[in-house]
This record gives sequence, structure tokens and C-alpha cells, in this order.
Amino acid sequence: MAKDLINIAILGSTGSIGTQALEIIKYFPEKFNILALANNTNPEILEQIKHFNPKYVATNSGINMDTLSVKRVSIDEICSNKDIDLIIAGISGIESASSIFTSVQHGKDILLASKEAIVIAGEIIINEAKISGSKILPIDSEPSAIWQCINGEISSPKKLIITASGGAFRDSEWSELSSVTSEQALNHPTWKMGNKITIDSATLMNKVFEVIESKILFDMDYDSIDVSIHKQSIVHSMVQFDDGVIKAQLGDTNMGNPIQYALFYPERIKNSNLEDIDGANLGNLTFEKLDSSKYPCFETALHYAKKGGSYLSILCGADEAAVELFLEKKIRYTDIHIIINEALKEHKKMFNPDFYDLIALARQTYSKIINKYNN
Ligand SMILES: NC(=O)c1ccc[n+]([C@@H]2O[C@H](COP(=O)([O-])OP(=O)(O)OC[C@H]3O[C@@H](n4cnc5c(N)ncnc54)[C@H](OP(=O)(O)O)[C@@H]3O)[C@@H](O)[C@H]2O)c1
Repeated sequence: MAKDLINIAILGSTGSIGTQALEIIKYFPEKFNILALANNTNPEILEQIKHFNPKYVATNSGINMDTLSVKRVSIDEICSNKDIDLIIAGISGIESASSIFTSVQHGKDILLASKEAIVIAGEIIINEAKISGSKILPIDSEPSAIWQCINGEISSPKKLIITASGGAFRDSEWSELSSVTSEQALNHPTWKMGNKITIDSATLMNKVFEVIESKILFDMDYDSIDVSIHKQSIVHSMVQFDDGVIKAQLGDTNMGNPIQYALFYPERIKNSNLEDIDGANLGNLTFEKLDSSKYPCFETALHYAKKGGSYLSILCGADEAAVELFLEKKIRYTDIHIIINEALKEHKKMFNPDFYDLIALARQTYSKIINKYNN
């Protein structure tokens, strides 16, 4: 193996982010080596192991690896492995947080997609990264767009404008949605992503997560972050500076661009698998003020997010449980808001929680709601 190869671990390798990251990495075999893969239960990881020949794999899929030259390990062992240079964090949901914290504690550089981890314990993770020297580079498309607009500027941004497609029900009122199905909610108008983030996009919970993520990653106040409905999903976000000028980042709707940008930062490299957008022929791009009456989850979540701390664990735990129950057809779409609102309303803010308190609280919130509806 060439000495200057960058050794990568992909957490969530069988998901939407994981598979798109593998496509980019496959294009540059002279630059990157897949040293470890991790997922949950999807047996498709076997094909990935055969193709990328990683040294370490963490999986609950029960696949037979006896005849393969790969070592079965835990995700924590991957995140602390001294030979790993870079972790691509693409596990969905609250269970992503521990692996990101371990990676940061071990000084690993992270390409961050898993937004729930930053929502639950962002400040603790960022402070730990400052101590360990770990670099956290966003690959979520909106924070990546903000990062791309800020790069090269010596002035701090005045305002971040995060764009939102508006999700599957953007042309409906909330009151019309009580009988929509999960199939309808999963029919995202512009992006193809994992199930949880697609439902979070319909409720706009995903946008609250991005507001929180951007606040933490770019050290902004909530008052300096706006959300705009941009149905075409071409402009991935914008940044305004003190002179009033706005910079925007435009691109195709795939995660290959932000993943590749972070992998090669600060260089931009040609990859013939990534589509160019036709800048001279973009057609109409529209930007509308968010009508919050259509998105009660957005209003409620942002209200409690501003209280910070343990409210963010409740938010993530309750959202994950509610989305899962909706996907399993155990609750109505509009119940998602009721469940999240109740959990947040009941909560009394914890005094000075550490990382483990915050994760435990998110898990407890999730389990309490799941158990209530399963009994
Ligand atoms: N998809 C996007 O375009 C996009 C864009 C921006 C940000 N993000 C963020 O990136 C994260 C992943 O999203 P996604 O759309 O890629 O989700 P996804 O398609 O559902 O994939 C999730 C991945 O995480 C793995 N996983 C889930 N729980 C796990 C656990 N407990 N232990 C180990 N692995 C686990 C899954 O393994 P199995 O396949 O075995 O279940 C799968 O590989 C989310 O936080 C999302 O908000 C996604």
C-alpha cells in the first residue's frame, strides 16, 4: 500500500451517506484506502467488504466473515484505532453520537453528516475537538454550503441563510395532513436520502437540526440564522457579510459534492461522476419566507432548542421515536408534533450535564415513547 494513502473509516457504510461516500472514494484509489466499515444490520455490507477489502468491520448483520481476511471489531475500536486518519460519520440518529465523541477524543478528523450527534452534544464535542486537535468538517449539504461560502473570507458572517426544499408536503397545510401515509411522506421532491432524514425534511425538523448544527459549527447566534424555502434545492445555503453582500453555494442534489469537497479541502478536484449544474440555464430560482403555520415541529423544536442543554437530548430522542412510530404506521403524521411537544413540555432542564448524561437522556426519551406506543 502506498504510504501516503489516507486511511478512512466509514460509519454507516450501507446508508445513503455511506454509499455515496464509497462512490467518491472508489474514484480516487490512489488517494484513499478504506480501512474500516461499520453499519447496523444490513447484510449488504458483505458486498462492500468484498469490494473494498477493509481490515476492520463492525456490524450486527450476522454475515459470515470466516473466509474473509477482515477483523470483526466494535465501532468504538474503529474510532480509536491509531491507523485511521479520517472518519466519515454517516450513522443516523442518536446512536451516532457515541462514535463521534470517541473519534474526537482520539483526535480523529471527521467528515460529519450525522447531525443528531451535534444537536445532542455539539458544544461538548466541539470543545473536546479543540483539546484533541480533531478537525470536524461538515458534509451535510447546508452546513457544507455555509462553510464553502465562508472559506477564503477574513470577515465573519453577519447572517446565515439556510435553504429548505419544504419537504413532501410543502404545498399543503398542516391541518390537511392527519391521514397522509409514510409512503407519501417519504416521497421527497428533490433529494433521495435515508428514511429518518426524509421524514424530518417533511416536518422541517431536519431544518431545525441544521440551524442548531450551523449555530454550533460556525459559532453564530440563533438570531443570525434564517431559513428560506427554496423549492428547487439548487442553492444549498447562503451567507451574508457586513457589507450586505450575500454569497451562495449552488450545486446538484447529491451528497457527492459536499463529501468530495471535504475530502480534498481546500482543493476542488474533477470527478466525472459528479454532474455539473448548468449555471447559464438555471431557470427560475425561488426563495420564500418560511410559513411556520405549515410546520409546527419547526416552531416547537426551535423554541426549545434555544433553551439549549438537555432540551436538545429530549428533542432528538422524541423525534427519533415519533418518526419510527410513524414509519411503522403506529401513529399519524400529525402525532409526530404532539409527541415531541409533550416530551419537551414535560422536561425540566438538567443542571450541567456531561456527554454521557445527554446521550442517556436521549436514549431514555426514545425508549419511553416507543414503549408507551408498543404496549
Ligand atoms: N442522506 C443524506 O443525503 C444526508 C444528508 C445530510 C445529512 N445526513 C445525515 O447523515 C446521517 C445518515 O443519514 P442517511 O440518510 O445516510 O441514513 P440511512 O440511509 O438510514 O443510513 C444510516 C446508516 O447508519 C447505520 N446505522 C444505523 N444505526 C446504527 C447503529 N446503531 N450502529 C451502527 N450503524 C448504524 C445504518 O446501518 P444499516 O444499513 O445496517 O441499518 C446505515 O448504514 C443522518 O444523521 C442524516 O441526518 C444525511
